[in-house]
Amino acid sequence: VRLLFLKLSIGLGSLWMLYLASHLDTDKVSGFTRSHSWLEYTDEDGGPEKVCNCSGILQRDQESLEQAKLLTLTKTFRKRIQIPDEFYINETRDCRNFKLRRKYLTFPLSKEEEDFPLAYSMVVHHKVQNFERLLRAIYAPQNIYCVHVDKKSAPSVTSAILAITSCFPNVFMVSEAVSVVYAGWSRVQADLNCMADLYNASTKWKYFINLCGQDFPLKTNLEMVRMLQSLKGSNSLESESLPAEKRWRIHYVHNITDGKIKKPPPFNLPIKSGSAYIVVTRGYVGSVLKDSKIKDLTNWFKDTYSPDELIWATIQRIPGVPGSKWPSRKYDQTDVNAFARLVKWAWHEGSQDSESAVYPECQGNHVRSICVYGAGDLQWLLQNHHFFANKFDTATDPIAVFCLEKHLRHKALAEAE
Ligand SMILES: *[C@@H]1O[C@H](CO)[C@@H](O)[C@H](O)[C@H]1NC(C)=O
Ligand SMILES: *[C@@H]1O[C@H](CO)[C@@H](O)[C@H](O)[C@H]1NC(C)=O
Ligand SMILES: *[C@@H]1O[C@H](CO)[C@@H](O)[C@H](O)[C@H]1NC(C)=O
Ligand SMILES: *[C@@H]1O[C@H](CO)[C@@H](O)[C@H](O)[C@H]1NC(C)=O
Repeated sequence: VRLLFLKLSIGLGSLWMLYLASHLDTDKVSGFTRSHSWLEYTDEDGGPEKVCNCSGILQRDQESLEQAKLLTLTKTFRKRIQIPDEFYINETRDCRNFKLRRKYLTFPLSKEEEDFPLAYSMVVHHKVQNFERLLRAIYAPQNIYCVHVDKKSAPSVTSAILAITSCFPNVFMVSEAVSVVYAGWSRVQADLNCMADLYNASTKWKYFINLCGQDFPLKTNLEMVRMLQSLKGSNSLESESLPAEKRWRIHYVHNITDGKIKKPPPFNLPIKSGSAYIVVTRGYVGSVLKDSKIKDLTNWFKDTYSPDELIWATIQRIPGVPGSKWPSRKYDQTDVNAFARLVKWAWHEGSQDSESAVYPECQGNHVRSICVYGAGDLQWLLQNHHFFANKFDTATDPIAVFCLEKHLRHKALAEAE
């Protein structure tokens, strides 16, 4: 890369110098042919987690894992890792300093990534630290980020997240926030509002990815860009035939109190089952926002149970939708095959010699049957092709997040060399 820049700057004269200067932090311009090693996360950046041996943890070294486990159980450690919401308001008073101190990327790491911007919808309601670390992990100046903070979130959460987003021209709060109710339509509405804002804000982005506050990436931005290019315009999300035990979700009106029979879907279309989390093209988002047939379907979904797990999977199988697949079962895609999201469900865990097991046992702890990853899950997580995994929590196992973010940043900088 250095050689290439040198050649180009000789060939194109000051144009490239200007380009580079405008893309590098001014403090660092003098070393534009230098490596980006100053962007590595070092132990000085880390909190109390820094005593852990992350390379040992990533290799599942027993000693390193035990040390990490012990630490997460220590009272003083648990206390020290908490960060009050006000901290972020203080820290972001000087945005330039905040970005420097937190080592946010302020320039695209490659031309390839710059030419392939992504759009993110981030739906969050609490745990500001998780949000900030997630944003830092996926932040790149060429991408665009819409943040939906739940309407009923604590004022300190909303203020802290607003303060963080205000530091970036390409990170914004959704124009219309809703109050998200579990298994209700509002979860879909939150993403729809961000989709509309993102679609309108820029025409350049190629793919849309939605996240919640407890997701964390398993890939660098460059790796995601390359995998998306390999999809050649297809979407990548779970979309399977609706299992018999879930059919009630669409046959009855979901209204907490009553169980009225629901009208069948507006046109002859198989309802598919999937996940709330998707990786889809800009064209797919355009269809969701503008196609009148899909609008009818969207309205029909409003009183089903947990429509977030049905709507995207169903739209993915409508002929003519960009990046979609035929409705035939042959094109069903499971959560383990799609790029979108890796989740460990308690009932699918087990050892490899068990015929029914899908993945090894959770090394963290379960919340509503979903694994909140521990440091011991990292090696397995990184062996998968998924872009993101759910759930991480800095309040449960900050070491898992610490080692993962360090690993990804190191990888991203190595790729850029
Ligand atoms: C971290 O763990 C690795 C792998 O077990 C080991 O080789 C290395 O010496 C450890 N580093 C420290 C500082 O303990
Ligand atoms: C925020 O800044 C004020 C004034 O500088 C300071 O007194 C306070 O302790 C800070 N709060 C946090 C949470 O960092
Ligand atoms: C799109 O954004 C422009 C301003 O950039 C605004 O005037 C317009 O109303 C927006 N359109 C929609 C559909 O939100
Ligand atoms: C749910 O049912 C109640 C009582 O039957 C009714 O008053 C209310 O309008 C219904 N809500 C919706 C969204 O259909």
